[in-house]
Amino acid sequence: MVTAGNGQDSALLDVFSTIPIEPVRGDGVWLEASDGRRYLDFYGGHAVALLGYGHPALVDALASQARTLFFQSNLVPLAVRERAARALVDFGPPGLSRVFFVNSGAEANENALRIAFRATGRPVAVAIEGAFHGRTAAAAAVTAGSQRWNGFPANPFTVRTVPFNDVAALEAAVDDDTAALIVEPVQGVAGARAVSRTFLSRAREVTRRHRALLILDEVQCGMGRTGWPFAAQAYGVEPDLLTVAKGLGGGFPVGALLVRDEVAATIGRGDLGTTFGGGPMACALVETVVATIREGRLLDEVRRLSARMARECLVGPVVAVQGMGFLLGLRTAVPATRVLAGLRERGILAGGSADPDVVRLLPPLVLRDEHVDLLVQALKEWTP
Ligand SMILES: Cc1ncc(COP(=O)(O)O)c(C=O)c1O
Repeated sequence: MVTAGNGQDSALLDVFSTIPIEPVRGDGVWLEASDGRRYLDFYGGHAVALLGYGHPALVDALASQARTLFFQSNLVPLAVRERAARALVDFGPPGLSRVFFVNSGAEANENALRIAFRATGRPVAVAIEGAFHGRTAAAAAVTAGSQRWNGFPANPFTVRTVPFNDVAALEAAVDDDTAALIVEPVQGVAGARAVSRTFLSRAREVTRRHRALLILDEVQCGMGRTGWPFAAQAYGVEPDLLTVAKGLGGGFPVGALLVRDEVAATIGRGDLGTTFGGGPMACALVETVVATIREGRLLDEVRRLSARMARECLVGPVVAVQGMGFLLGLRTAVPATRVLAGLRERGILAGGSADPDVVRLLPPLVLRDEHVDLLVQALKEWTP
């Protein structure tokens, strides 16, 4: 039986493990719970609260768009949709000139894979061990360990899996049957594991050689989280397709697919579709999130504070720090669940990962030194 925060029986399907905190409001990096306690949020609701809570620019954009036009579909052109797409293309890596808006990360990946199969007419996708790409049929097929929950009787296409950072295996797996190679440049769910520069540049080379498409899944690591607009820019790699969601709307559900011109030329009217994708509310937020990151020069701070965290979080139970920017994994000498519980007692929320010894940090881009001080202090004070 599920019990709601107020102690009553719940009408919700019982599929989520929850932590015993019921947030009632948020302000910047802080959350306030129903019992009055405050928590510094280094997790952001699975990496979504990219600019923290109650950011005035986002609240204004939401209110003003809601008053103007709450919804219209892709049956009609919308200036705000055009502006959001332009902002995203300008923010993204060179060469990706077209945008398709959807509602989630899985949906973005589902469409990216669909485009790759249609464009190449080939039967195989290559994926990386440990990756998480989502819970729809195609996204789950390229997701590590999805057999546990996938639920469909068969995968919709053939998948070859390459061990993490294994360049030789990558070279062997991508061939003339390959439609796409899909890579999360910094694997999030796996515990903030960044692929090596060599691996990603070879991924670009080998896909080009075989005329397969390179899809970068930046659903979690995109939108400034690495300290660059996208990991693609951090690595200097230009993919054929790039997917983004999570922080894209700062908390409003929205995903997007950025597409290279040559690939866009293979897609015609009626090939893709969505009811909610590209709605005006989501687009107003995308436009505002990009503008806020740019105008506030937030990425300089992400890089500076990330370097600081990587140095100073090596205390208490933490034995190593991995990842990039504000997608960091603290490798712990004891199970991460114990460290997370201890941090919660000290008023700090962080995330777990598929690695039982990694605590995942996904703070908002508006983090400041004083928040890092509190995290470092809580780690120092952590006792087994
Ligand atoms: C890298 C990555 N891709 C795709 C997804 C799926 O996104 P969504 O839950 O919005 O469908 C996730 C979610 O955690 C993710 O981390």
